[in-house]
Amino acid sequence: MKLVAGVDSSTQSCKVVIRDLETGALVRHGSAKHPDGTEIDPQHWWLALNQAIDEAGGLDDVLAISIGAQQHGMVALDIDGNVIRPALLWNDTRSAQAANDLIAEFGAEGFVTRTGSVPVASFTITKLRWMRDNEPENAAKVAAVALPHDWLTWRLRGFGSAGQSEHGPQLNELISDRSDASGTGYFNPETNQYDDDLVIAALGHRPILPRILAVGESGGSVVSGTSHAIVACGAGDNAGAALGVGAKDGDIIVSLGTSGTIFGVSSTHPRDLSGTVAGFADASGLYLPIAVTLNAARILSTTADLLGVDFEEFARLALKAPAGSDGLVLVPYFEGERTPNLPNAKATLSGMSIASTTRENLARAAIEGMICGLNSGLEALASLGIHGKRMLLIGGAAQNIAVHEVARNVFSLPIELPVPGEYVADGAAVQAAWALTGQRPDWNLDFAAKYEPKTNPEIMRAYLEQAGKY
Ligand code: XUL
Repeated sequence: MKLVAGVDSSTQSCKVVIRDLETGALVRHGSAKHPDGTEIDPQHWWLALNQAIDEAGGLDDVLAISIGAQQHGMVALDIDGNVIRPALLWNDTRSAQAANDLIAEFGAEGFVTRTGSVPVASFTITKLRWMRDNEPENAAKVAAVALPHDWLTWRLRGFGSAGQSEHGPQLNELISDRSDASGTGYFNPETNQYDDDLVIAALGHRPILPRILAVGESGGSVVSGTSHAIVACGAGDNAGAALGVGAKDGDIIVSLGTSGTIFGVSSTHPRDLSGTVAGFADASGLYLPIAVTLNAARILSTTADLLGVDFEEFARLALKAPAGSDGLVLVPYFEGERTPNLPNAKATLSGMSIASTTRENLARAAIEGMICGLNSGLEALASLGIHGKRMLLIGGAAQNIAVHEVARNVFSLPIELPVPGEYVADGAAVQAAWALTGQRPDWNLDFAAKYEPKTNPEIMRAYLEQAGKY
């Protein structure tokens, strides 16, 4: 049996899947946790990757591997390949003012024309500007900037800080792909080129940036133990998930993880000056228009903790409440929000009467808040001409049965639920197979359920009335 591996180095953990090249069947898997926090020493990701690979039985019999990872994180390297400061992650909002400053300098339209997106605090470019303004001594030392998947791919190929790796700090060996590069804020997904003026405006000088590999191109091989697996270009996690579920033009994907994302795979590159929809690239040569919320699965875990229940009981409570939660509305901006762009906001609960303030309504209002936030993204996609034919619901919180019910009540598309899986890692495994054979594999996708919508517009109306007060 010929084997390929895919990795998802996500915000919370690292997951590895090893699949049969011919059929795509899952053969082995492993995972390891990452520490919490919005700034992380990348070495934790490297240790977790190695632990997850070991748990998955190693790479000795694996022919190719690719790494998908959380997008946007800023890994700043000095000339010796050392990480200069902990990586600032996509959900770190300290660079909100830097985003405003850059937009004031180049204009929202300038950014959309040059990069496809208006930057928010998540984007790498704003983190570089924040470092230039707040840690000038660190900014001056930056010789190369990588994204999480770029850095891990470099390490896996035997590069790293002087003395800690087989090949040493060859910064010119950093590689990336257009899906993840399109989330930096200094890359044009139409020309597939970096925008030097933008990166210089952010950091003060032009660092080495990873070389962009073409879709399906291989980028050398693993240097670790006795493995010589070829290494594919890797991807940002959302583009990875799109490959993992085999998304085609006309599919809308909703992923409910630490972040909530709603995105389409599209052959056209929409331009949204409002910044609600970012015009990223996908990992198959198309585009990935996307809206992202900072708050998703943790809305449910926070509310379940507050209610003192596990997820099963949480779902049972939510399903006992009526659609609309008797007027109880949770606008769930617990960690600030990105869509809409409110980095300093906090969550609010409204519509509390003696009768409406029940455990059941609170559980349901939490799910309604999460789904309504993403439905605003669906409406924004539609306003740009991205009209999905079906919606694929994935991610940890998509396993919750009450989430299915609320999704049917809020979204207006037929919903298909792939069987629970590690779709980002699976997408990376698709890339590994593609780089190995020169062809995108056509693996089967199994579904756990398919639902017709039963939309109740009142839920969204009540939500927007409260969200509009921010
Ligand atoms: C996408 C985004 C998140 C991260 C973490 O723009 O910020 O989805 O990729 O998963």
